[in-house]
Amino acid sequence: MQADRWEQGSDFHLPAIWHEAHADLLRAPATPPWRSRAHAYASGRDAFHALIGHGMQTRGWRRLWVPSYYCQRVVASLVQTGISLAVYTDGPDMAAPELDEDSLREGDVLLAVNFFGLRAALALPPSLQSRLELIEDHTHDPWSPWAAASTADWCVASLRKTLPLPDGGMLWSPGGHALPAAPVSSPQRDAGSQRRLAAMLLKAMYLDGAVVEKAVFRQLYLEAEQALDEAGTSAMTAWAQALNRVMPVASMRPWRRRNWDRLAAAVESMAGAADTPAVRVLRPDDAQACPLGCQLVFDTPSLRDAIRERLNRERIYTAVLWPLDTPVLPGVPARHRRLGKTMLSIHCDNRYGEADMERVADALGNALAEEARAPLAQDPPAMASLALK
Ligand SMILES: Cc1ncc(COP(=O)(O)O)c(C=O)c1O
Repeated sequence: MQADRWEQGSDFHLPAIWHEAHADLLRAPATPPWRSRAHAYASGRDAFHALIGHGMQTRGWRRLWVPSYYCQRVVASLVQTGISLAVYTDGPDMAAPELDEDSLREGDVLLAVNFFGLRAALALPPSLQSRLELIEDHTHDPWSPWAAASTADWCVASLRKTLPLPDGGMLWSPGGHALPAAPVSSPQRDAGSQRRLAAMLLKAMYLDGAVVEKAVFRQLYLEAEQALDEAGTSAMTAWAQALNRVMPVASMRPWRRRNWDRLAAAVESMAGAADTPAVRVLRPDDAQACPLGCQLVFDTPSLRDAIRERLNRERIYTAVLWPLDTPVLPGVPARHRRLGKTMLSIHCDNRYGEADMERVADALGNALAEEARAPLAQDPPAMASLALK
């Protein structure tokens, strides 16, 4: 990355990982948890759509339980499958799901999530598991030990969240069930993926110093995302599959964990300082877990928004996962709505090295100290710019 183009976060660019300088990365292959029996879709939502239709037709599924803390875009797309939906309480602030066995009935399926890659396993009582079919969402760490050892009926992972791919989502069955019919590609999804690939290439050129307008690739990212919103069951594109085959996953994962360790340690030392406002890090269950990013939880929504704005000004583009102000389904507890307003995700993937993470930690420390001195909340025009990110 050219120094004057330094930024951190936001969408993946197309990395030059095939370059000789990265030969070590490429020499480390990884066995995916799905091995060879899986279908590859254009997105995680497409994989879910195919699975739910298949389950309703062939396995008597009538009702799907989804966790209260979850991506509402995914919930909206699950609604479109026609299955009845119910919410159970689970989220990244909890060690295990809360689900009342008495509320279960025949035809129920449970969707469990490895929130932000923080969990080592699913703590579900065996009595409960025997009464349900189980789907696990491994999007946030598809190569986790949990995913590798899963005994779930089904697993789904969107690949686009951890890997720089223009499309991709996997469906596999650790339980050995028959998969749905093989997906075929759709012109609409393919066009969306082409847009994202163009955006990723232009962003890579921009970061290298080329005279490329940021607005051009940002618009392409947006259009690519819109092309995935309509319900469908399209196949992963041939070009995303080809890129996926050269992804050095085995080294990307520990890299992300190292970056996470660095940032988490820095934040924890800041949070203990008397002159900064409170912030805490959501910690993974164990050292084998690999969090998607550094999930920070601030004392108040206004502090979270102000820190996000300050980091934005330093070209550190964080993510809010997920806004829960207007949940698609009833039953989301107030504490999870609040968590959606106080949490901020900082990217830790292998686009960034030690110096980048130090720069992020410094910017965060400065933002917290500044905020303690002169809160941004008193500055409405600055806050208004948040809506644009
Ligand atoms: C945990 C989780 N599952 C599934 C998805 C859906 O993935 P996709 O956007 O590829 O449909 C997302 C997307 O944000 C996600 O965060």
